[in-house]
Amino acid sequence: MTVETRPATPDDAAALCKLSLLLGYETSAETMRHRIKALDKSGGAAVFVAVHPSDGVVGWVHITRQRRLTSDAFGEIVGLVVVPAFRRKGVGRVLLNRVMMWSESHGVADIRVRVQAHRRGAHNFYESMGYTLLKDQRVYHRHTPVPDADTRPTLVD
Ligand SMILES: CC(C)(COP(=O)(O)OP(=O)(O)OC[C@H]1O[C@@H](n2cnc3c(N)ncnc32)[C@H](O)[C@@H]1OP(=O)(O)O)[C@@H](O)C(=O)NCCC(=O)NCCS
Repeated sequence: MTVETRPATPDDAAALCKLSLLLGYETSAETMRHRIKALDKSGGAAVFVAVHPSDGVVGWVHITRQRRLTSDAFGEIVGLVVVPAFRRKGVGRVLLNRVMMWSESHGVADIRVRVQAHRRGAHNFYESMGYTLLKDQRVYHRHTPVPDADTRPTLVD
């Protein structure tokens, strides 16, 4: 099956939202448009879409360049999803190849991805693509409301 990959543009927002819902993340098309534009400017991240000649966008992947005090820079896949009707047809593989090329061109040799424990299909996918299990982790979260920019206290670093 032929799919091509290209960088996502703000016009892909609606398609990306639909696919994000499959991962459990609900986002409006307008918010998604803003996020795609912001990523474009950041330079340390990219979103690629897989496009089928008649069905349009059938998958996307989001890769970021991570810097840590404790390791060399590495690439991190922070989202990857393929439309159910197009799974097991090589679309995920094509998207992974694209992020590998992006990582090489950004000087990072190591690519990581965190996958939720229940996503067994994805575990099999990454393992068959040559990824090996590095560690098991828990993800903690705390929400702190942030004041508007004009009332935010100034922090001296
Ligand atoms: C994981 C996912 C992206 C894989 O995409 P895909 O397009 O179906 O993957 P591919 O067709 O390129 O698969 C390549 C190989 O990976 C392995 N593989 C892929 N999905 C698999 C599954 N569900 N079970 C077992 N092996 C699997 C197979 O070896 C496959 O080759 P084969 O079909 O010739 O046997 C897709 O299933 C998906 O979107 N899942 C839901 C979202 C998700 O879990 N995302 C990952 C979180 S970051």
